[in-house]
Amino acid sequence: MTLKFTTIQALVAILAFQTTANAGKTQQVSNWGDNPSRLPPMMVYTPDKIAEKPAIILGLHPCGGNGQQYYRMTSIPSYADRLGFIVLYPTSNSQNGMNCWDANTAKSLTHDGGGDSQGLAGMVKWALNTYNGDPSKVFAIGGSSGAMEANVLAATYPDVFNAAVSYSGVPAACWAGSPISTPFSSDLSCPLGKKASTYSAQQWGDLAKGCYPGYSGTRTRMMIVHGTSDTAVVISLLKAQLDQWSNVMGLSFSKNITNDPIMNWKKIEYGDGSKLIGYEVQGGGHIPPFQGDATMKFLGLM
Ligand SMILES: *[C@@H]1O[C@H](CO)[C@@H](O)[C@H](O)[C@H]1NC(C)=O
Repeated sequence: MTLKFTTIQALVAILAFQTTANAGKTQQVSNWGDNPSRLPPMMVYTPDKIAEKPAIILGLHPCGGNGQQYYRMTSIPSYADRLGFIVLYPTSNSQNGMNCWDANTAKSLTHDGGGDSQGLAGMVKWALNTYNGDPSKVFAIGGSSGAMEANVLAATYPDVFNAAVSYSGVPAACWAGSPISTPFSSDLSCPLGKKASTYSAQQWGDLAKGCYPGYSGTRTRMMIVHGTSDTAVVISLLKAQLDQWSNVMGLSFSKNITNDPIMNWKKIEYGDGSKLIGYEVQGGGHIPPFQGDATMKFLGLM
């Protein structure tokens, strides 16, 4: 595991050197309000031309990263320049120096439970107020630990997030019972697929529903991307996430489309493809390259 994590950190370091020439501006914000787990300041990216009622995207970094790093890691800001939405880049607490999101404690896995998920929902509410945002266009996008947290947010705040995008994540509450949700956790039965090999779709669905008991409103739409050669978060977690959300949303598998949106990516559609899709990346490793157009189309922004 040490070697694998070092690889992830090296990747993060390389990506951090890529400079992006974005037209808008970044600022640090700390007093957004609700923040029970005392998350450090977030970075906010605002394009030059903000849409009249802008969409709000929450960008969630992987372990070893931070808001600044994830800002540089994807082309989301360049889409913000074109489409006028606001991007929030929070930074996690250290989690023993690993900088991962809390995807394991009951606090974070409960609606208004006092954990990271509540602080992240608080950031979105701040942004909706501050920029007169469109509450029907609130989205979470994340890689690895950030993707795990995107699943957590879909389960804990389906009333806040219209859609979530997971690049190399795990189902909501997959880490429940583990002492910490990092690559050095003493319990890696979630990311290494042990739970995925025994849990049914119904069990995954119940775990997600248990994060917000009694909720019966609209569910967060999900786009789930995963590489078949991922050794840190194994490929069976793709099916586990699809099982979870197909169960929660009551959708069934409809079809696969090969080489979509690019070679070696396979789109896995549930229902009519507007609420739940997966992408299996043949030969892909941990955190496949961000597909901007496909992601923005799923969110309904393009
Ligand atoms: C669709 O793709 C998934 C993932 O590779 C695979 O498990 C499933 O068997 C495929 N289904 C069909 C009908 O091709």
